[in-house]
Amino acid sequence: MPPHLRAAWRRTLLVLAALFAGATALGLLLGQAGWVLATTALGVLAWHYWRLRRILLGLTARRRREPARGGGAWNELDQLLYRSQSEMRARKRRLLRILRAYRAAAAALPDAVVVVDRNTQRTIWFNRAAHDLLGLRYPRDLDVPVVERLRPLPLAHWLAAGRNAEPLHDAPSPVDERVRLNLRLIPYSEDYWLLVARDVSKLLRLEQMRQDFVANVSHELRTPLTVVHGYLDMLDPDDVPEWRPMLEEMRKQSQRMTRLVEDLLALSRLESRDSLPEEVVPMAPLLATLRREAEAHSQGRHAIEVHDRAGCDLLGSAQELHSAFSNLVSNAIRYTPAGGKVAIDFERDDDGGAVLAVRDTGYGIPEAHLPRLTERFYRVSSSRSRESGGTGLGLSIVKHVLGLHQARLCIRSTVGEGSTFACHFGPERVRPRHDGETSPPAALHAAR
Ligand SMILES: Nc1ncnc2c1ncn2[C@@H]1O[C@H](COP(=O)(O)OP(=O)(O)OP(=O)(O)O)[C@@H](O)[C@H]1O
Ligand SMILES: [Mg+2]
Repeated sequence: MPPHLRAAWRRTLLVLAALFAGATALGLLLGQAGWVLATTALGVLAWHYWRLRRILLGLTARRRREPARGGGAWNELDQLLYRSQSEMRARKRRLLRILRAYRAAAAALPDAVVVVDRNTQRTIWFNRAAHDLLGLRYPRDLDVPVVERLRPLPLAHWLAAGRNAEPLHDAPSPVDERVRLNLRLIPYSEDYWLLVARDVSKLLRLEQMRQDFVANVSHELRTPLTVVHGYLDMLDPDDVPEWRPMLEEMRKQSQRMTRLVEDLLALSRLESRDSLPEEVVPMAPLLATLRREAEAHSQGRHAIEVHDRAGCDLLGSAQELHSAFSNLVSNAIRYTPAGGKVAIDFERDDDGGAVLAVRDTGYGIPEAHLPRLTERFYRVSSSRSRESGGTGLGLSIVKHVLGLHQARLCIRSTVGEGSTFACHFGPERVRPRHDGETSPPAALHAAR
């Protein structure tokens, strides 16, 4: 007999003994009438106690017996409890089935899934793919610190960031470093995190192929274009005046193509790098160069203003920063009608960083286009861009350059009023400015 039943029987016998003692005392006190009264009361009490016990035993039994049929308070109570207990058991079975189905689905996912305890950062559960991609073994790696177990992966800082952890786009698998992983941390409850690792080796290989293809094609196009350019330059429109419009168009288009190839090569160059050579970029001469370029580009059609309020310099690549800023300035001039204003403001940011903002009073950009502006070849109005010689690669280059400086581009625009393109640099990019630096950085390029 299980211990809890033995205890229940012991209690029942104790209660019966107490009742019996009580009845005997009553009988002795009151004589024959007392005996009759005591025996009846004892019988009634014992019967009720027995029914109560039966119901209690039924509730705690592993296999619930059928409830007693018929009326009466005890039978009705028994039937009621039986019904609610049956419903509860059915619900529990259903929940278990759902839970098992979820587990089976998570176990069969091609991505590695690890449930991590948020407080202890220990593994709670992981699926089959976690074995293949992360090298986790069952049961060895259950309830172990995840950072320790996945040691080659740089997880300590990442886990510490918790909810704000950015996905790790390209991390080597602890099993085989040729397998590249994309890791994401999903805090799905107060207590648990989901660590999801996806094999992106194929995707990265394809991306590499795409980058190589674009770089190679652009490179190969350069030579024939130079030849075409050369011959076009040799042709004098005055020799055959009726060819003048055709020659001019051919020159314009070949120049456009050369710029496209140069931009594609610049993008490929930026994409293939994880970092840039760094130097302190003196901002005063850089701003002066931007002003000169803007004035040359505008040809007096716009009011150009430069405000240098930051009083600091930036750490980064002078050549690439100049290329990015001059892209923004050239856009501001191109997409602002004559008579408009273009302002270049260099200021300190609230977080101790610095912002270079290019503001214009031009056409503006409808809000729906803003999220896609930095995509390659994306143009809001292709006719207006084509008119102004745009290829749609400028902002893509800006985004890459800023990315290599851990900076971000914020775009605000109102149609008909103008746009602001602001490059935000973190405090780690800010350097104190030394007076007397007036010569422009050697690596600066000519304006686009
Ligand atoms: N200051 C601006 N005002 C209005 N529209 C702008 C502005 N800057 C960019 N745009 C819009 O964003 C699009 C993308 O700009 P982006 O600089 O990438 O390409 P582009 O200027 O067309 O060509 P490219 O810079 O490669 O010569 C432009 O075609 C234009 O429609
Ligand atoms: Mg542009």
